[in-house]
Amino acid sequence: MAHGTKMVDGALEGVRRRRAAQDRSPPRTGSCLSTAAVSGTRAARGFRWSDHHFRSMSHRRISMDWEHLTLMIGDHPSGMPVLARRLRQSLAGEASSAPTSDYLEDAITPDITPARLFLTAHAERRFSESQRLLNSISNKYVQVVGAYSVKTNPDTRLLTLARSCGFWAECISQLEVSAACRAGFGQESIILNGPAKWWPSRNSIRPKLVIADSVRELQSAIKNADTLSQAIGIRICPRIFKSRFGVSLNTEKEIDEVAGILSQFPLETGIGLHFHLASSAIGAERWVWLADSFLELVEELELRARRAIGWVDLGGGWHPDDWVQFLSESAPTIVEKLSGKAIPRTLVLEPGKAMAQPTMAVASRVITVRDGNEVVVDASIAELPDINSHPHRMMSRKKGTNKWYPVVDGAIRVYGRLCMETDVLASGVSFVHRLEPGDEVMFLDAGAYDVSMAFDFGRGQSS
Ligand SMILES: Cc1ncc(COP(=O)(O)O)c(C=O)c1O
Repeated sequence: MAHGTKMVDGALEGVRRRRAAQDRSPPRTGSCLSTAAVSGTRAARGFRWSDHHFRSMSHRRISMDWEHLTLMIGDHPSGMPVLARRLRQSLAGEASSAPTSDYLEDAITPDITPARLFLTAHAERRFSESQRLLNSISNKYVQVVGAYSVKTNPDTRLLTLARSCGFWAECISQLEVSAACRAGFGQESIILNGPAKWWPSRNSIRPKLVIADSVRELQSAIKNADTLSQAIGIRICPRIFKSRFGVSLNTEKEIDEVAGILSQFPLETGIGLHFHLASSAIGAERWVWLADSFLELVEELELRARRAIGWVDLGGGWHPDDWVQFLSESAPTIVEKLSGKAIPRTLVLEPGKAMAQPTMAVASRVITVRDGNEVVVDASIAELPDINSHPHRMMSRKKGTNKWYPVVDGAIRVYGRLCMETDVLASGVSFVHRLEPGDEVMFLDAGAYDVSMAFDFGRGQSS
């Protein structure tokens, strides 16, 4: 274990506090989303996926909240940026996790920075612990599968680790399918999703589950069911959430249309239903309500199609801190509900950032310190493009020493090396020691979209 570990474990209280003020999915009580409007059981349970489910409730207020929410979620795949900023004030005081000692085993700054570090020990622990929980909540009717979202970070080390721990791979293109196969995933553990799943050209892999994004795609999938995949599903989008993905089941007619198509599925082809809405964006509690409504929709479609829906895919989008809690608290209830009819089912969860985000860090060095409260480091938004969508824990270390110190609250701004006004990596922070050129600053939580969305800029090369 690296020298300094013990000290950092203790001293990270400050990081915990600072991060708690910024981080986490929406609070469990009270938020800018006017929880009051949706928290009464009647209203909460009234939020449904269709008019059929919706009729009995007065939902005007909830609609307003969800429109508001749609605006806040923005375009990021994880749906986080705007929300994370909005929540900074309201979340102060909530507990949040501090880096554990297994982060520091691999936090070794190389000679050349900025550098991305893979925190092997932490990654191994995260995947194996998650798989243990997934196994523990499976029962004789419901197998719970974690399908790692390849797009979130397709790093081979993560893919290999995911596979060796028993995860499946969720892919959104044929290139991702190839990457998954290179990492050892077989076709029986590949799920194919999204609007461009056959791009750029179809390879010979027959995935276990293919999720259609529209009624038209579902109809055409059914025609080729025998060669396409073992199971075919359809993505549903919630009623009041504006999304370009999936099928809305807002009316009886729409539900009947989808049920009609499902009823024509070849008997040997499995049927699936899928939704994805990041709990990191809408809040863990709201996500559970939504999942609950979704399970009712599964039952409704089963009744109308007179076919079992053997695949239930709840998508991804958990914040790393919420994921383990979800697996131990909410997921067992979902499994229990799905077991009710004694139908064999596979429950698919597609975590991306919940697995990958804490597994990588960006190591950097100080280039200059200006007026004592402006620090320029050699990392930038090119290596940390996701820096504004969720708070990154930070640590610093004096040149030539072994002790990492947590970054605490203060009045210092940390700029990246680029000639861009937007290249601001942190503000309102302070360092335990006076920073000088050559000192190290480590950005944690950089293992998800900070990797997959990184870009070359200012390096004298074009892509
Ligand atoms: C369908 C689907 N599954 C899983 C994910 C992974 O999300 P995250 O990395 O936020 O867990 C995404 C992200 O956009 C997605 O669209």
